[in-house]
Amino acid sequence: MTPIRGNFAGILVITLNYFIQSSASYNPHRKLQYLLEPPVQVEVAGRRGDNVTLPCILRIKPNHYKIKWTKLDPEHLGQQNIIMISNANAFKPYGPVGRRASLLRAHTMDASLLLSHLELGDDGRYQCELINGIEDENIVITLRIEGVVFPYQSQHGRYKFNFHEAELACAEQDGMLASYSQLYRAWTEGLDWCNAGWIHDGTVHYPIVHPRPVCGGNLPAGIRSYGPKNKNHDRFDAFCFTSQIPGSVFYITGSFSYDQAVYACKRQGSALALVGQLYAAWRFQKYDQCNGGWLKDGSVRFPIVSPRKRCGGVPEAGVRTFGFPSKTTHLYGAYCYR
Ligand SMILES: *[C@@H]1O[C@H](CO)[C@@H](O)[C@H](O)[C@H]1NC(C)=O
Repeated sequence: MTPIRGNFAGILVITLNYFIQSSASYNPHRKLQYLLEPPVQVEVAGRRGDNVTLPCILRIKPNHYKIKWTKLDPEHLGQQNIIMISNANAFKPYGPVGRRASLLRAHTMDASLLLSHLELGDDGRYQCELINGIEDENIVITLRIEGVVFPYQSQHGRYKFNFHEAELACAEQDGMLASYSQLYRAWTEGLDWCNAGWIHDGTVHYPIVHPRPVCGGNLPAGIRSYGPKNKNHDRFDAFCFTSQIPGSVFYITGSFSYDQAVYACKRQGSALALVGQLYAAWRFQKYDQCNGGWLKDGSVRFPIVSPRKRCGGVPEAGVRTFGFPSKTTHLYGAYCYR
């Protein structure tokens, strides 16, 4: 009888172990055997173009193990986007992110991921997984791309984009549709916009800092949400996200038509700036210019860092817009990007 009981006990232990391990991934405060937990940093931030290190440190080194880094994709739950797998001797990168990834290996216990030339789409959660035979443990690090959210409306007016067109519109302005957390952060930084727009996950929202009757009545300040909408048939504006730019934006004074503005930039070896580039210059290069100028999409805008009465009269810093004037009006300068 004793051996059988021993076997039962063994099965029980294995089952418990299995249960603990599989439920472990839902508990952020679990005790890990090998990986340092909590990680050195739970969140790492960087701008587009930067290099960052996502920390993953071993406390104890098993004899044989692999390290697997994956990006956790909230929109494809369960699907793992592997970035790289490595063991003591080999390093194998996967996919487009893998090409920009390497292991820091600052010391023998270091499995931190070095990610170079950050892109807007790198924002998200990354898992460092230690695979040691059948045992497996992981930590998760959030990578936040520092940037700026800007509302974008079609030149044909309010609420003209279905989801796919909104995605394209952001890309054409050097951005991508914002995530909910990017929109939320932008709201805490003062983004107040009375038109609903698509974000990256296919839901629709608008951020209100100063509640007013025309923008959702007496609801408190916050992100007002319409929830998920039909990506093909429903039409709204877009909330785009962009980050640091490698070049710079400059203004040419003049009373140009759109075509003359195109030419003015060209003569300086540059091109009319994109909306995202103007926002990035405003946010990261503190670009302040109290004159309306043409942008490539045909809109006229100007960036204000220090609000003053004669520059738009609005008390908050921001990029002001004159919308999309007729391209033949000879009234504005040019914002160029080089
Ligand atoms: C980022 O890393 C790459 C190599 O992967 C290097 O060439 C580049 O100079 C680094 N950039 C910065 C800003 O450190």
